[in-house]
Amino acid sequence: MNRTVYVNGQFVSESDARISIFDRGFLFGDGVYEVSAVLDGGLVDNTAHLARLERSLGELGMDSPATLEDIERAQKELVARNDLDEGIVYLQITRGPADRDFAYPAEPKPTLVMFTQKKALVDNALAERGIAIVTVPEQRWRRRDIKTVGLLAASMAKQAALDAGADDAWMVEDDFVTEGSSNNAWIVTGDGVVVTRNLGSEILHGITRAVVLQLARERQIAIEERAFTVEEAKSAAEAFITSASTFVLPVVGIDGETVGDGTPGPITRRLREIYIESARAGADR
Ligand code: PDD
Repeated sequence: MNRTVYVNGQFVSESDARISIFDRGFLFGDGVYEVSAVLDGGLVDNTAHLARLERSLGELGMDSPATLEDIERAQKELVARNDLDEGIVYLQITRGPADRDFAYPAEPKPTLVMFTQKKALVDNALAERGIAIVTVPEQRWRRRDIKTVGLLAASMAKQAALDAGADDAWMVEDDFVTEGSSNNAWIVTGDGVVVTRNLGSEILHGITRAVVLQLARERQIAIEERAFTVEEAKSAAEAFITSASTFVLPVVGIDGETVGDGTPGPITRRLREIYIESARAGADR
């Protein structure tokens, strides 16, 4: 594979891309990122992703090396140069290279990189089969609302799930599910109420989460934004996850117990359909 990637204003071949070993993203995890889906060659929910990027930067007192308009222009150019029809665009901003010091550099030179990944988002076999989840203790820091590149605890959770023969992990704090390793967690109660954790610093404020809530509200589907326990999730009628790279994906097992009848539930299926329809309609070229 030799994609064209973006590094600090330049489009270069991935084998020619260079970042300093002193980059604070590399040394301190001092960086933020966004993942936007690409459908039919267009960016999905990207305005909201860039608004969250701006918020993450603000929470860390970090400057952006480019305006959001410039960033979006570069994302689109990258999608076009790589002839990407379906997949994701990853973008990352770090506080840039500086001699190693815990304190922020006085004059930071932030780094901006972007790359694309081809991925079948709509025709995903897991949407038909549903995924199996294991629960793991929450081990991340306390500002999970900031989309930082400090992803080791999430990566450990995902690996623990794969090692256990499952597909992904939900993280649990004080008996309550926070979220998935890289997605928001949802259940549907026996009464057909769609439940996902309320916003706060305990979870990432998922863009797909916000869009799915909006679409559900417009269709008079009952919603509750509140925390739920692992026990409640195991006895729920349905469960699913949301993220830019999975859209709405059914969960059919939790810690070896089946959710509902062990197949993707009707409300989950409907929300996936509705989301994909809306994403296609809004895909921005
Ligand atoms: N992850 N929660 C966490 C911890 C995440 O990392 C993500 C996204 C989400 C869902 O957010 P959104 O709907 O805005 O994608 C929730 C991306 C896809 C990733 O790290 O690859």
